[in-house]
Amino acid sequence: MFAGTLRNDEMENHWEPKILAFLCNWCSYAGADLAGTSRIQYPPNIRVIRVPCSGRINPLFILKALQGGIDGVLVSGCHPGDCHYLTGNYVGRRKSATLKRFLEYLGLEEGRVQFSWVSAAEGGKFSQVVGEVVQDIKKLGPASRFVKEKLLVRSSEFGVKTKNNLRTPN
Ligand code: FES
Repeated sequence: MFAGTLRNDEMENHWEPKILAFLCNWCSYAGADLAGTSRIQYPPNIRVIRVPCSGRINPLFILKALQGGIDGVLVSGCHPGDCHYLTGNYVGRRKSATLKRFLEYLGLEEGRVQFSWVSAAEGGKFSQVVGEVVQDIKKLGPASRFVKEKLLVRSSEFGVKTKNNLRTPN
């Protein structure tokens, strides 16, 4: 069965976006934790990866997530001036913004990669940010631009013989 067909079926059966959130350990992750302990509700569409600092995120992590079928990525770190590593959040924002512009240049819809500041005391804001990201991604629909299964389908459709029928980008 084609990966594209599966994605269409998912859409018909009330599609829900899969969103990956990279949260800095010291602020945004603690904010998410606070939202949980305060029983503040937010959409269950996100999967969290805790990182030491938003500056630690390699842009390839985001690309890899999109290739793996993630529909949207949220990067969240400490507010300006609050980073435990002084300027890591500025570095993280710059990296995310540069990658975002580059991916949009390659055809990725605006809004699939988002950046936010959330502190450890902002459980409510974390919930609000997640809600907004989920709404934005729902409007965009399932991501397909960089999904690797698409490449796999294309290579088999055209009879390209590769190891395990996997075609990797150059
Ligand atoms: Fe939170 Fe650097 S420690 S963004």
